Amino acid sequence: MPGAEPERPPPRRTRGRAVTDPEHPLPVEPEVLSLFPESTRISDSGHLVIAGVDLVDVASTFGTPAYVVDVEQFRAHASQLVEGLRERWPNSEVLFASKSFPAVAMYALAATSGLSIDVAGAGEIVMALEAGVDPARLYFHGNAKTDAELRRALEAGVGTIIIDNLDEFERLRRLATRRQRVMVRVIPGVEPETHPSQSTGGDQSKFGLPFDQATDLIAKIEADPFLDLYGVHLHIGSQVLRVEPFAEAIRNIARLGDFLAYNIGGGLGVRYTYAEAPPSIDTYLDSIVKTAQAVLPAGAKLLIEPGRSLVARAGISVYSVVSVKHTGRTFVAVDGGMADNMDPALTGQRYEATIVTKVATPPNVLCHVVGRHCESGDRIIDSIFLPNPAVDDLLAVPVAGAYSYTMANNYNGALKPPVVLVDRGEMHLAVRRETFDDLLRTHRPEAAHHPA
Ligand SMILES: Cc1ncc(COP(=O)(O)O)c(C=O)c1O
Repeated sequence: MPGAEPERPPPRRTRGRAVTDPEHPLPVEPEVLSLFPESTRISDSGHLVIAGVDLVDVASTFGTPAYVVDVEQFRAHASQLVEGLRERWPNSEVLFASKSFPAVAMYALAATSGLSIDVAGAGEIVMALEAGVDPARLYFHGNAKTDAELRRALEAGVGTIIIDNLDEFERLRRLATRRQRVMVRVIPGVEPETHPSQSTGGDQSKFGLPFDQATDLIAKIEADPFLDLYGVHLHIGSQVLRVEPFAEAIRNIARLGDFLAYNIGGGLGVRYTYAEAPPSIDTYLDSIVKTAQAVLPAGAKLLIEPGRSLVARAGISVYSVVSVKHTGRTFVAVDGGMADNMDPALTGQRYEATIVTKVATPPNVLCHVVGRHCESGDRIIDSIFLPNPAVDDLLAVPVAGAYSYTMANNYNGALKPPVVLVDRGEMHLAVRRETFDDLLRTHRPEAAHHPA
């Protein structure tokens, strides 16, 4: 029956070792741990501990809601991608799609992990430079770059500008006073299975140019004294759970001709729920490189720009339970919601969760985890079993690292949460929580007006 709720908790989901000797059962771990960073443990007191840091301590030090990032998990993904691609295709480069987590500390972490950076917009350039990233390692994207943004990029010495359209080409020609490396964004004509708002490679895409127009633009760039054509760029979409669309996009773009470089974008999906089975990073790399070997020039540079697959699993959102209400449904309302994670409302993304101090307790109550904002669509998780949820419990939502901080907003006057990095038993505040002063700053009429 549509909308009917399961009445009984699911069989306890566990991972790890099977019980072979009933006299001496080996410990089994709740399956939810498999969604958290690899460093995650349950402490002797039964708390969730990430990178050696008890999430209760994060909450008592920095409050809730809070974004927590496991530094080593990010580094592990970065090295799997950078080294994995290099082993398969030595002339390669991995870019951090910084839109997935645009915090200054994340730019710094990415750069020190061997990644170049994809920036889309002047604000992301500013944050990357603040983090000390070499501007030559920036790739500037966007389908509507303004004069002011392009001027800023040129002045900063941004290494590569990805031209989206003819108007942008004309702007750049007007603004460039010395040679500038560029790529051309192409519509690859591939629509992967994902949420429509995350699909960017189909024929109707607002990003890039179809092949015939891209070919004309490439000819214009090649004839231009200031613009150096490096190659072509595509991005088919995000949270893509199969490898074939990536391969298809590479095969399509190869038809455009031989270039020095091919940037095939990001998009590799991640496992948010027990049911999802994304390709591993190795499977993804095997597939794209095998296709590239078949259709791209052997000496060309191959670039990828992952966001979600780098940061999603490294990040956790921690909330406090504010109320538990039984109205025929059990609503567990927390102190955050669509102001700190837009994804459930925007893309219908499903998450799993657990209670920080009850992670080893079997989940027994069917709940709807909702936020505090004035929309019925402000929900975090529909229909999840939680272990005896109660007021003041801390709720931990795994796989929350990608695009949550990105889309944080001030709905209902919410203050954007802090970002806390956890690393080898220590916590570091990377972004502090907004204050009411921050909230009011832009509303004060006496504040100076600084155009971007
Ligand atoms: C041009 C471009 N590159 C890379 C990415 C990163 O995608 P993902 O986070 O899915 O890896 C995006 C995100 O939408 C994008 O627009």
